Amino acid sequence: MCGIVGYIGTKPAADIVLDALKRLEYRGYDSAGIAIQGKDGVKIIRKKGKVDELKELVAKTPLLGTIGIGHTRWATHGIPSDINAHPHRAYDVVAVHNGIIENYVTIKERLKEKGHKFISDTDTEVIPHLIANYLKEGLDFVKAVKEALKELRGSYALALLREKERMLIGAKKESPLLVGIGEGEYFLASDAPAIIARTNRFIFLEDGDLVILTDRGIKILNEAGQEVKREVQKVNWSPLMAEKGGFKHFMLKEIYEQPRAISDTMLGRVSEEKGEIYFEEWKDVRVNRIRKFWMVACGTSYHACLIGKYIFEKNLKLPVEVDIASEFRYREPPIQKGDFMILVSQSGETADTIAAMREGKKRGAYTLSICNVLGSTLARDSDGTIFTHAGPEIGVASTKAFTTQIVVLFMLMLYFAKKMRMKTVKELREMIFHLRKIPHKVTDVLEKASLIQDLSRKYMNYKDFLYIGRGINFPTVLEGALKLKEISYIHAEGYAAGEMKHGPIALIDEKMPVLCLSPKDITYSKTCGNIEEVISRKGKVILVTDTESHEMANKVEEVIIIPQTIYELQPIISVIPLQLFAYHVANLLGTDVDQPRNLAKSVTVE
Ligand code: AGP
Repeated sequence: MCGIVGYIGTKPAADIVLDALKRLEYRGYDSAGIAIQGKDGVKIIRKKGKVDELKELVAKTPLLGTIGIGHTRWATHGIPSDINAHPHRAYDVVAVHNGIIENYVTIKERLKEKGHKFISDTDTEVIPHLIANYLKEGLDFVKAVKEALKELRGSYALALLREKERMLIGAKKESPLLVGIGEGEYFLASDAPAIIARTNRFIFLEDGDLVILTDRGIKILNEAGQEVKREVQKVNWSPLMAEKGGFKHFMLKEIYEQPRAISDTMLGRVSEEKGEIYFEEWKDVRVNRIRKFWMVACGTSYHACLIGKYIFEKNLKLPVEVDIASEFRYREPPIQKGDFMILVSQSGETADTIAAMREGKKRGAYTLSICNVLGSTLARDSDGTIFTHAGPEIGVASTKAFTTQIVVLFMLMLYFAKKMRMKTVKELREMIFHLRKIPHKVTDVLEKASLIQDLSRKYMNYKDFLYIGRGINFPTVLEGALKLKEISYIHAEGYAAGEMKHGPIALIDEKMPVLCLSPKDITYSKTCGNIEEVISRKGKVILVTDTESHEMANKVEEVIIIPQTIYELQPIISVIPLQLFAYHVANLLGTDVDQPRNLAKSVTVE
């Protein structure tokens, strides 16, 4: 997820663009760049690093002009570097982009054959080249952009300039883009924070829209090329509120970003018709010689690994050992040469996980990391990396990183299942079918947030919670309990439901609510027994299930119904109410939800 900005008006564009980029930095901050059209043409300054560093550079080489574009990057293709930073130029076209161009490799190859020279590793760079190619064929700027957009597959929000043409073009498909309407000036921005200080009048562009901004005014063309009028809306947010897209906390925003984050993480990687998975940044290694998997991580990422174990062992019939990274190194792990080690980390900077990766390498394992941050230490130093495309996760409590990690682990299992011939094409197609339904199912759960908010009011003052589940629901309740304890500071313990009789049941009374995750899966009947045990000891049960006809529904205090899916994907759906419950309890208690006491977003010390 990146931030893009454009300006055309009567004021110096550089200051406006840089100020807007600073306000968008939460969207991505590994590199930034600016392009300003002056009397000598378009000048570009771009570099790895934060917007402040870009500002210092621009201060040394003033960019004069009243039309410009800018970009702050969250790398998805091509590590953070000066050369991969936006804006990208091809001939007289300059572009900044937020999104993922799925078919950039084929476009790039075709343009190379036409003599185009590429200098970056990004998907974005094909966009100005493609437009320039149509300009060379004699089309004008607007028509060239329209023709180029027809070829792009994937998602984009674009701001475009052309040398010597006083015109700012914006285009939107799946990634957000809005137009700010000022007095004699126009803005383009990824979202409101960038420009809320300059105007509160916005047009929220729709998918397929192309907007042409000149000194003469604004023109919007829809996907069919017809001129359309879009409503101008007034947004009365404070700049800080706007950064959170109107949400009170980043954590809540990131909970609601999960449908998009999951879609982005799948984008360009699944072919339902072929029953195939592609990881463009990672190719298989010695797949057929893998005898054992290791999955190592910390915290929420460790819970994703526990879920990965169920997904892998059920479908690949190979053993998976899961370790907490801080424990892994001290138990003399019996890694054999050729073992396949998967390290999961949102930040890619967790010291214990990096240390575990190095230990695994030393003992001869192949190390594949699953990270959310390109250019992070883990991504750079492991033998291979697959990225979640969740976008920056600002809230300390991990939410969208967790669900996208499970998506990558599920896709990785399918990838291996195909290579190891553990699944037929039909079986693979069916599993991909269910995967593609997940974003909508997550949205269905998010639409029940008010019910969960009511529950949080009712249970916010309890001091202890037990979260129980069996099978793949067990790591999910570990994650749910972690969410509650780390942001509300209430003691919450996740437990294997089958373990109740071996101790925890001694805790049960009316002062200790028990959240039970009980979908109608292979664990259903046994978990019903656990619910009986709790109820008979006056325990209060909050039941989360995917069936309207749960046989314990009339005996428990609360029931939250969630959509059904296949066993391996259930945790992505089940965790949503647990995230929302934790968030709303913490919000009501007034804790610092985005930066809970004693915690940090990335634990870079052991
Ligand atoms: C989860 O909500 C916590 N913020 C924490 O447990 C986190 O998952 C853990 O520190 C691992 O971080 P990583 O994924 O960046 O390696």
